[in-house]
Amino acid sequence: AADGTRTFRLTAQEGTTRFLDGIETPTWGFDGDLLGPTLRASRGEQVAVEVRNELPEPTSVHWHGMHLPAAMDGGPHQPVDPGEVWRPTWRVDQPAATLWYHPHPHGRTEEHVYRGLAGFFLLDDPAAPDVGLPHAYGVDDVPVVVQDRNLDDDGTLDLDGGEVGVLGSLVTANGVHGGHLTVTTERVRLRLLNGSTGRTYAFGFTDDRTFLQVASDGGLLPSPVEATRVRLSPGERAEIVVTMTPGETVRLRSFRPDLGRVAAGFAMGANDEFDVLELRAADALAASPEVADVLTTLEPLREADADVTRTFSVAGREINGRRMDMSRIDETVEVGATEIWEVRNDDAVPHNLHVHDVQLRVLDIDGGAPPAALGGPKDTVYLEPRRTYRLIMRFEDYTDPAVPYMVHCHLLLHEDEGLMAQFVVV
Ligand code: C2O
Ligand code: CU
Repeated sequence: AADGTRTFRLTAQEGTTRFLDGIETPTWGFDGDLLGPTLRASRGEQVAVEVRNELPEPTSVHWHGMHLPAAMDGGPHQPVDPGEVWRPTWRVDQPAATLWYHPHPHGRTEEHVYRGLAGFFLLDDPAAPDVGLPHAYGVDDVPVVVQDRNLDDDGTLDLDGGEVGVLGSLVTANGVHGGHLTVTTERVRLRLLNGSTGRTYAFGFTDDRTFLQVASDGGLLPSPVEATRVRLSPGERAEIVVTMTPGETVRLRSFRPDLGRVAAGFAMGANDEFDVLELRAADALAASPEVADVLTTLEPLREADADVTRTFSVAGREINGRRMDMSRIDETVEVGATEIWEVRNDDAVPHNLHVHDVQLRVLDIDGGAPPAALGGPKDTVYLEPRRTYRLIMRFEDYTDPAVPYMVHCHLLLHEDEGLMAQFVVV
């Protein structure tokens, strides 16, 4: 736009989706029947969004992974009533990354995401050097949101779940079950998002080929990490680069995820395997650049620079023994502070932890160095049972003593049932 603001419009609405042949399933979407458009903006740009709610109940839209003022964050304190419009605006100021957006209404997040409301929000950084990553959107740079659902006999969404909410057997990539992607280049970059409400995946390929993980939640890893599996819990992202040979077919699959020391009786889908997306290489593939050995230099976040250490015990539906209370501020952070959050999963079941506003780093896990795949900017961290994660983060720019940010489990049933706390930055 002429005033330099990039404007988006999103309308949350009811629709129907054909997940299975001949069956129309009622779903919700942004500007359509399911999911939503990919939003894209560059570092330095001012973004403005018009969020319209045409659903029969209040919702909200949260910009997951975005550094922005608390009043623009789209959490439970920014509800959008039916028929209303919400107009957040902020300036993008963070590295290139695969972010996403989804509803965050108080106590109703699981259902709103499960019904289909979610979309990608990609950030670019025009000043970043070219490190050989494929970047033709939809051609060799493809966002893939993976979700699981269950359908009742009449084709409607089954909302009943267990300890982590619904674990579905109908797994979709970008809303499609049993879909494929035609690959026309030697290398393809998949921006994987676990958009499920409760399921953790371990993605790999049916022939166990090695791929490169190049980015995590908040942007590039310092160097590509060679891997055959990438574990993603709900809300987490990984960008991977896969090399293909002409004419071949291989499937992206979710293998049995290693969930850590989970108590017997809480399998949490640990035995489930699913094909997610078939990659079909064309008979001739266009050459792709080599991925560079060094992708980025991360700003150091050093333990010695931390001003404050906070401890969080996660168990049941509580953080530090308390359930979410919309009227209670749990933590007060000083702007500019570097903080260590020592988070322990004191439970026998899996959780994860998502912190709004920041991209954090994993300092250590039970005192040991994190794996290389966790060496980049993160906003959501899987918490294996009975382990302690030390996370380091810096809170910059935005203060608001009256409007809190959220920190919570991204197993959305847990969030809805109280595993969430509020912090303000002052
Ligand atoms: Cu992805 Cu607080 O949410
Ligand atoms: Cu949880």
